[in-house]
Amino acid sequence: NPTTASSSPAPATAGTAGTAAGPAGVDALGLSGPAQAATVPDVTAAVKDPRPQLPAKVTDSNGKTITVASTDRILALDLYGTLTDTVIGLGLEKNLVGRSNSDTQAAIKDLPVVTQSGHDLNTEAVLNLNPTLILTNTTIGSEEKYAQLENAGVTVVRFEQTPSLDSIDDTIEEVGDAVGLPEAADTLAERTDAELEEAKATVNALKANTPQAPRAVVLYVRGTAGVFFILGKDYGASDIIGALGLADSAAENGITQLKPANAEALVSLDPQIVLAMEDGVKSAGGVEGLLKRPGMAATTAGSTQRVITAADGQLLAYGPRTPGNLVALAQAIYTKDGGQ
Ligand code: HEM
Repeated sequence: NPTTASSSPAPATAGTAGTAAGPAGVDALGLSGPAQAATVPDVTAAVKDPRPQLPAKVTDSNGKTITVASTDRILALDLYGTLTDTVIGLGLEKNLVGRSNSDTQAAIKDLPVVTQSGHDLNTEAVLNLNPTLILTNTTIGSEEKYAQLENAGVTVVRFEQTPSLDSIDDTIEEVGDAVGLPEAADTLAERTDAELEEAKATVNALKANTPQAPRAVVLYVRGTAGVFFILGKDYGASDIIGALGLADSAAENGITQLKPANAEALVSLDPQIVLAMEDGVKSAGGVEGLLKRPGMAATTAGSTQRVITAADGQLLAYGPRTPGNLVALAQAIYTKDGGQ
């Protein structure tokens, strides 16, 4: 039987940044300049020495019954990083044989990358790794490519993509069922729930001196060409914004998907705080480059340079690292002045 491991406290995870009596923030609207949220360390495995009970039988997001016979060589393919975090949290880190370019977890940084041209799947690179199991929410690659991999004999389990706080437990349980570790999944889900409650208390303490919820948007930028979007609710922006005590300008303006971040759209949303991914911003010429994009300087966040960045695979990964992510972001938003 797997033994339960304690979750080792680490910087910027929930529970370490204070309780309701912890550090108070200042009025977020009085802060200016860019700030970086601390990077949340890799998930600690919820069990030591996991022993998957196989074969596992699960129903995938298409309603198909899938039999998982082996978890020896796993690929977890998810634009947001959640599935990989969950596999690591279930103790199967060593069974991962590759990663997508979204997976920036320290433990797997040296594994081969199986994505190409942004977030498409390189099926040849996948097959070269001889995976026995692919876990995917199909945010990476296409249905055609997964069918091709199934035809080549790889077991593919498809999960619903639901980037929200409420979905965290379900995703952990579904992944746990697929890899034959339902009990480890219970442990991981319970731990994540408890950490989430602590994180919410910490965020509440940090935002206590901010009487008016600042207007915020999540922007996705990559490079200096056309990949520049406002992220809507269905892309996972709303829950993170709401949990941080911010007002969701995109949702208030009916944006649910990806909307090109052109000058008109940015100016009409007029965010006071911009949330973005660290490497994405770097690839756009840093905060300076981002603020030179048409329309940015005319927003309040642009004029105060209030851009809060977090690691790419962390910002929107709704999973075991969410509590730490919330605390890290709240600390940046409510305490870190960028000195502008
Ligand atoms: C590359 C994360 C969504 C387009 C990347 C990289 C990461 C990442 C970590 C690799 C950067 C590097 O290797 O230095 C994410 C996350 C997303 C997301 C977490 C969740 C919302 C998107 C979307 C698009 C996009 C919606 C386009 C519509 C690209 C492109 C690259 C890239 C074009 C560059 C790939 C290359 O240079 O080979 N992304 N991304 N990403 N992403 Fe995303």
